[in-house]
Amino acid sequence: MAELEMADPERAALDLLLQGFKVSRMLRLVADLGIADRIGPDGRVALNELAAACGVRPKPLMRVLQALASFGVFGVAADDSIAHTPRSKLLRTDAPNSLHHTARFLTARGSWRAWEELDAAMTGGVPHEVAWGQGRFAYLREHPEEARLFDAMMANYPDNRHAAFAAAYDFSGVRLICDVGGGNGAALRHILTRFPTPRGVVLDLEDVVRSVQPEELMGGRITVQAGSAFDGVPAGADVYMLIRVLHDWRDEDCVRILRACRAAMAPEALLLLGEQILEPDPARGRQASYLVDAQMMAMFGSARERTADEFRGLLAEAGFALRRVVPTVSPVSIVEATPV
Ligand SMILES: C[S@@+](CC[C@H](N)C(=O)[O-])C[C@H]1O[C@@H](n2cnc3c(N)ncnc32)[C@H](O)[C@@H]1O
Repeated sequence: MAELEMADPERAALDLLLQGFKVSRMLRLVADLGIADRIGPDGRVALNELAAACGVRPKPLMRVLQALASFGVFGVAADDSIAHTPRSKLLRTDAPNSLHHTARFLTARGSWRAWEELDAAMTGGVPHEVAWGQGRFAYLREHPEEARLFDAMMANYPDNRHAAFAAAYDFSGVRLICDVGGGNGAALRHILTRFPTPRGVVLDLEDVVRSVQPEELMGGRITVQAGSAFDGVPAGADVYMLIRVLHDWRDEDCVRILRACRAAMAPEALLLLGEQILEPDPARGRQASYLVDAQMMAMFGSARERTADEFRGLLAEAGFALRRVVPTVSPVSIVEATPV
């Protein structure tokens, strides 16, 4: 360890935190260039070959790869060849629950510029709106490339919530599941693969459902419906799901979405929220959870992660009773609620 780190480890640790944005930005660059897919899982590629395949110059690429290698992402050998490490393998698009899309999306332009305006949130503003003059979902509609990246990131999110959701809850007696704000249908695909009986319907914004590919619809077991949850949700399902949807909205909007679900639901239907339950004490909580909470602030202002009591309050206001909270192996829990 270098002298400075040994003499004052707290200073050195804080210095690295201050420089974290550089790491995130370089991770996006190598993900945009598809570097991880160009190196076989157990192979090694010469720098010049890698640079030529990406259409970039070898020297600047090497500087980026050296910096990332110092954080354990890729291995750089003395002969200028590049190999994978366990971390860089997670950037391959064929890695289970790949982090490729997350690396590309988190510092993509929409989010990057919104973070620059974070101060606005301290006085009640919405950083994303200050940066772009429009809300997050309107921005994504106008930037389809970032929007499809967002859908891919949600489908492959580091918390692996969709697989965990399907494994933690018994859907065997269910006929129809409506996934409100279900993105490209990833959660339903996990559930329907595990349980042969249910069918699923995804309600999401028009540009999102239009981009769902026919092969993602599981031979017709999944259908899609374009629309806004604020205007109503499809009737007739016996389970309604809102997975990582409420955390995008302030309390008043959450209650509107929940009321729209309530209005569509039969008395015996169930509502399942898939959300992180925020631990109020950061000494006990997960660092990644607070970073998601801060991301919600940068994108949506007063949208946020919530505690179990806060979910109970929102549900009660919209005509639901919180029945139980089912933990999953991911940080996302299932909050089960019934109409009252
Ligand atoms: C954080 S993502 C979660 C996606 C998915 N449920 C998952 O767990 O991966 C929020 C989703 O809400 C959708 N959404 C945003 N506004 C909506 C609205 N007014 N009505 C329905 N869906 C909406 C977005 O398009 C996006 O797919």
